[in-house]
Amino acid sequence: MKIHNNISLKAYNTFGIESIATQFVEIDSIDALKEVLKYIEDHHLNYYILGGGSNTLFSQNFDGIVIHLQIKGITIIKENSNAVLLKVCAGENWHELVMWSLAQGYTGLENLALIPGNVGSSPIQNIGAYGVEVKDVIDCVEVMEVTTQSIQKIMHSECQFGYRDSIFKKSKRKYIVTAVSFNLKKNQSQVNTTYGAIQSVLIQKGIVQPTALDIANTVIQIRQSKLPDPKVLGNSGSFFKNPVISKTLFSKLQSLFPEIPHYPAPDDQVKLAAGWLIEQAGFKGKRFGEVGVHEQQALVLVNYGNAQGTEVVALAQKIQQTVLTQFGVTLEMEVNIV
Ligand code: EPU
Repeated sequence: MKIHNNISLKAYNTFGIESIATQFVEIDSIDALKEVLKYIEDHHLNYYILGGGSNTLFSQNFDGIVIHLQIKGITIIKENSNAVLLKVCAGENWHELVMWSLAQGYTGLENLALIPGNVGSSPIQNIGAYGVEVKDVIDCVEVMEVTTQSIQKIMHSECQFGYRDSIFKKSKRKYIVTAVSFNLKKNQSQVNTTYGAIQSVLIQKGIVQPTALDIANTVIQIRQSKLPDPKVLGNSGSFFKNPVISKTLFSKLQSLFPEIPHYPAPDDQVKLAAGWLIEQAGFKGKRFGEVGVHEQQALVLVNYGNAQGTEVVALAQKIQQTVLTQFGVTLEMEVNIV
């Protein structure tokens, strides 16, 4: 285990924010993870688990040890002619896994193509896009329990998955995700085209019976047209969650704004599109110094190059305040502020 001192995290977060970690360690095995957790315990250190850095905003320097989780490997646990159960280690890149699985003829991940980040973060956020959430294909999640440094298997039914939510998000200090097992299909022609934008692109392309690879390519095309590439313009995808509100508040809003986009949510509630609210509040495409709101998708905050974490947080708070005043709706940040 090699611990580095005073390391810049700029290259390790997709927002491209400068922040210095007092200590930094790359971890590529379960044993190394145990070792570093013991070291942290012995030295009473603060720590942060970093995967692909696609959902983290460093708002200041980090006084503690950043654990860059790089445990790699994909194993077939079992398979038959129709299905395969894959165990994928936390440090594998998400999009590479999606494309690799399709090349093997395994389907189920295609709607989640091009989401930045690593496999280990996928169950924490219950990542989702274009009609699919990762919970739909997760069999179980392997974690290291921080206090006992033992590996445990958390079955799907125990993961408490919700919209961008899970037991791993609720108890961040308790578990570190080390691997995720996915139930994928083989020889399957059924695909999910429920999301309107997918259907429109398929029609444009003249594809009538899309394969899973067609879906992945369509999703890639839609994402590239709407979402900034973090390599070009620093960002963390959706900065806020889409808010879920009561039917009573929704009825009031709908009478004022008949065109307001909305979706059904559990417990007789209604989900709104945060991007629409932010656009109506006048922020879409606006730049404030080194930070701004993306011109194609108002849910995405961007770093024009030299933004500081505090500037991004200040813009996010300004947006929250304006949306609350104009619509009476609270926007919750999706990104982890460190
Ligand atoms: N909209 C606007 N203005 C905007 C953005 C969106 O009016 O600037 C409207 C759209 O016209 C549409 C609705 O809002 O009626 C929804 O927009 P979109 O389909 O782009 O999806 P979203 O709800 O804004 C969510 C996820 C994305 C995911 C897409 C596609 C969240 C917080 N975001 O965005 O996930 O890619 O759906 O499924 O749930 C992410 O989490 O980082 C992320 C990018």
